[in-house]
Amino acid sequence: MGSYLNLSVQKEQNALILTINRPEKLNALNFETLSELSDFFTHIKLGDAAGIILTGAGEKAFVAGADINQFIQLTPENGTEIAKEGQRIMFLIENCPLPVVAAVNGFAFGGGCELALACHMRVASSNAVFGQPELNLGIVPGYGGSQRLAHLVGKGRALEIICTTRTVSAQEGLQIGLLNYLVEPHELIAKCHEIINQIAKKPPIQVHYALQSIMASSNSNGFETEAHFFGECMKTADFKEGVNAFLEKRKSTFKGQ
Ligand code: COA
Repeated sequence: MGSYLNLSVQKEQNALILTINRPEKLNALNFETLSELSDFFTHIKLGDAAGIILTGAGEKAFVAGADINQFIQLTPENGTEIAKEGQRIMFLIENCPLPVVAAVNGFAFGGGCELALACHMRVASSNAVFGQPELNLGIVPGYGGSQRLAHLVGKGRALEIICTTRTVSAQEGLQIGLLNYLVEPHELIAKCHEIINQIAKKPPIQVHYALQSIMASSNSNGFETEAHFFGECMKTADFKEGVNAFLEKRKSTFKGQ
């Protein structure tokens, strides 16, 4: 594990608290942050802690999505590969030998929602808001969201959330099975510690086996399909329009091309 520019790691009680630390950009996942997440989750091993609490720096956001400024680098040639790389990192989290609890403390949009979904459990504060707004940018979720959201809340709800791009409050998230717990902002990290402290009393290898067994149910070719269509989006004019509209701080006008 190296030292990181956009992540901070801190040992507290039985947990490692991993904080995505770009609050001025609402912790948006640029390629550098993804690469740091990859490094962290590649090197983490049984015995390092009883669990990991993954959260976002600042009061406003968990993670407001993939970094849209870098979307101008997406092309029809590299789109699928970029989605697969994002998926690979989300799989690293899902396959982490230690339980990973997302402490969702604000916006969890797009890649941020997908990041929370890749964690083993989700605890949200009452100001958390979830959403998959990719369609507004002329893309589809590409970091596993279409698969994991459907798995957690059912295909019908996932379809509606992704295709309308409506947001999901923490209250609704609790009702539909997106969340394990909903707490007040000042209780968020304490609640995550409470879960990890309970797990810390259990045999760690068996915890790891249980995680692997439960997570295995979500592996399927759907991820392949998702990455394929993410790449296809880069061939459309509406993709450029969606990204440019965000960057130019205006409403997008889609033409179906
Ligand atoms: N990628 C890159 N930058 C982002 C970002 C993202 N996903 N989300 C927020 N930011 C940046 C903003 O551009 C802004 O930067 P600036 O101050 O240099 O202009 C900064 O973070 C603060 O965001 P801002 O939009 O001013 O905050 P807000 O409170 O008005 O709105 C959101 C918050 C989350 C509603 C809004 O930022 C947003 O819609 N973000 C994009 C969400 C999204 O589409 N995510 C999916 C991407 S796949």
